[in-house]
Amino acid sequence: MAFRHKHILGIEHLNAEDIQLILETGESFKEINSRDIKKVPMLRGKTIINAFFEASTRTRLSFEIAGKRLSADTVNISGSTSSVVKGETLEDTARNIEAMAPDIIVIRHGHSGAPHYLAERVGCSVVNAGDGAHEHPSQALLDLMTMRQHKGSIKGLEVAIVGDITHSRVARSDIYALSKMGAHVRIAGPGTMIPPGLARMGNVTVCNDLRDAIDQADVVMMLRIQLERQSKTLLPSLREYARFYGLNQESLKLAKPDAIVMHPGPMNRGVEISSYVADGAQNVILDQVENGVAVRMALLALVSGVDSMPAE
Ligand code: CP
Repeated sequence: MAFRHKHILGIEHLNAEDIQLILETGESFKEINSRDIKKVPMLRGKTIINAFFEASTRTRLSFEIAGKRLSADTVNISGSTSSVVKGETLEDTARNIEAMAPDIIVIRHGHSGAPHYLAERVGCSVVNAGDGAHEHPSQALLDLMTMRQHKGSIKGLEVAIVGDITHSRVARSDIYALSKMGAHVRIAGPGTMIPPGLARMGNVTVCNDLRDAIDQADVVMMLRIQLERQSKTLLPSLREYARFYGLNQESLKLAKPDAIVMHPGPMNRGVEISSYVADGAQNVILDQVENGVAVRMALLALVSGVDSMPAE
């Protein structure tokens, strides 16, 4: 099946077949990442600009590594070292980037919709690496790849997502992706951090209590409280948050014995997750990071019209 999207702006606009193709393409790239020479010539001659206007460790590094492993020329700009600090608008930045004829722009931006705005103004492909509190599609795809790796299939999984849902682009993309692939999502968090209308996004149940969300879950995904996106304090204290919504050795016992624990990172140890759990036998957090490279290789290849590995 050929991939029909020029851009990856969100999971909302992908269907189950698209997601399946991305995951299968990502699986085919995993092997490259374990070779001595981790490079294939699929995107030789292509130029990828990684434009990160917000902080990132995992997403930025893995998009850059993904591009390099496909032999593309990758160039990075960040908000703090670009002319954005001199007052240049996103539209002018986009026009100037466009003049240098890139093939793909990967963008992270603090404003929801910035990748969509860019996609309307440039001729190349645009990949959303996280826009405000809207979507983080590549994170959801690597999350699904990790769940498939450990659980075999997404269909029928009970997935608890716990934390600051209102400000979480990861939660939104995961809800869309998991619902489209046949899983059920249980959401829990403080009432001030649960947005209205979640049930309209997919197969979602909002739980009043952390314990209801985790009870017999196959997957427990903990999210960071995004203090940087909160205009007013939505919590009495981090200590109280940890007590009622933090995952620890005791609360994890409510999930299925073979449940996996996930976190998109960065983690606030001792707040949403205890170190015991974060480093424990059920955590698959570094598998998520490892799968991030393969999934991002798949996204870069697919938007370039390349969907299979070249013959050796
Ligand atoms: N998960 C994630 O987006 O991490 P970074 O902010 O480090 O990219």
